Amino acid sequence: MQPASKVASTFAALKEKIESKTARVGIVGLGYVGLPLAMEFAKAGFHVTGIDVQPAKVDGLNRGESHVQDVPSEEVAALVRNKGFHATTDFSVVRDLDTINICVPTPLRKTKDPDMSFIVSAVEAIAKHFHPGLLIILESTTYPGTTDELLLPTFEKLGYKAGEDFFLCFSPERVDPGNPVYQTHNTPKVVGGITPACTEMGKLFFSQALDKVVPVSNTRVAEMVKLLENTFRMINIGLVNEMALMCDGMGINVWEVIDAAATKPFGFMPFYPGPGLGGHCIPIDPFYLSWKTKQSGIEARFIDLAGYINGKMPHFVVEKVQDALNEHGKAVKGARVHIVGVAYKRNIDDLRESPALDIILLLKKLGAKISYSDPYVPELKLDGVSLTSESMEAAAKSDCAVIVTDHSDFDYQALLDSARLIVDTRNAMKAFQSEKIVRL
Ligand SMILES: NC(=O)c1ccc[n+]([C@@H]2O[C@H](COP(=O)([O-])OP(=O)(O)OC[C@H]3O[C@@H](n4cnc5c(N)ncnc54)[C@H](O)[C@@H]3O)[C@@H](O)[C@H]2O)c1
Repeated sequence: MQPASKVASTFAALKEKIESKTARVGIVGLGYVGLPLAMEFAKAGFHVTGIDVQPAKVDGLNRGESHVQDVPSEEVAALVRNKGFHATTDFSVVRDLDTINICVPTPLRKTKDPDMSFIVSAVEAIAKHFHPGLLIILESTTYPGTTDELLLPTFEKLGYKAGEDFFLCFSPERVDPGNPVYQTHNTPKVVGGITPACTEMGKLFFSQALDKVVPVSNTRVAEMVKLLENTFRMINIGLVNEMALMCDGMGINVWEVIDAAATKPFGFMPFYPGPGLGGHCIPIDPFYLSWKTKQSGIEARFIDLAGYINGKMPHFVVEKVQDALNEHGKAVKGARVHIVGVAYKRNIDDLRESPALDIILLLKKLGAKISYSDPYVPELKLDGVSLTSESMEAAAKSDCAVIVTDHSDFDYQALLDSARLIVDTRNAMKAFQSEKIVRL
């Protein structure tokens, strides 16, 4: 334990650097989460160093080229030019940094267990160049306990104490790619530290660049906040997908049901069915929680059930396509099926976990010939399938068009005019009535 005066001076020194914006900020992992965060701190007047293991991303950023849709290249270029931002693959820069946010991926293994290898590798690389006085904040979505069970021992093994020699926090990232209203700077930021001093430092740090900071009492609470938010979405989507299956069986239009229910001014929040879950968060994060709670003998039953129902949706869409083709006297084998939109959600370029991928593979297996249009995804490679995005005219040549992603740039009127048959999994054709349209 350090004498109280030394602890106070370590705290005061970093506080002064953060408040005067002379603290050297480091962001590890420059993807959908890390790059926007790096930009916010650079725009707030800090010098930001981005660290990533992919040399192509680092070189591109240093040339002023953004690889993240929500971050304009002009913004990166201007910040590189005025020396507010630069990127590197070299972790030895940690020696000169005062703060580090870790924004690396946290995927699932095939067994649905957390894959912590990216966090472990980033933390080990930081530990090699660790120095007292650092503020380290984990942002990657993970199971409760990661910060104090995995990160804390790595740094304390070096002989330093959290809250005295360095500051360690967890702060869940809430970025919503493509959201025109809520971006990094105006989405409230939750932060919890290993000690109250860590929380205070984390709060001070974020409040320099972000509009609102919400401190919580420790890292486990902060980790659980993110899992509650994403589990809430996953389960409600599961519920409404089950409603869609029920409505289909009873010949009821589920979209009309939801719109009418949403007129209730209290106690109801609309969620919408779709072709299945996608993205790096909702299909994955709840399984971090169920994996962890199993260790304490608690089964996460809602998560398992919602996971099962959501996982069925691509199969249900394929059944709809098959039935629709059959009704038009066509078999799926040999039919030309045009997929409209393959990104996991509207107006973004992210393909991760997109249900379109499952739908394409399932239809291919049944012998359909697949083409697709997506202005955000020029090419697509998966399990031996290699496709290039085609113009929407390809929909007219197909036997069935399947709307999987309802991008705003698609001309739905033109699609209706030209296509023979449309399976609409997103209610993108809400404004139209036609026998050609089969809704989810
Ligand atoms: N994308 C989202 O919408 C979103 C939203 C909220 C939270 N999250 C969470 O944030 C985290 C990051 O997600 P993302 O979407 O930004 O991922 P991403 O794949 O877009 O970016 C991660 C970056 O980290 C880099 N990286 C990997 N290992 C590294 C290492 N050892 N050292 C340095 N860099 C390394 C990769 O090269 C990549 O550029 C995940 O835990 C995710 O669950 C993502």
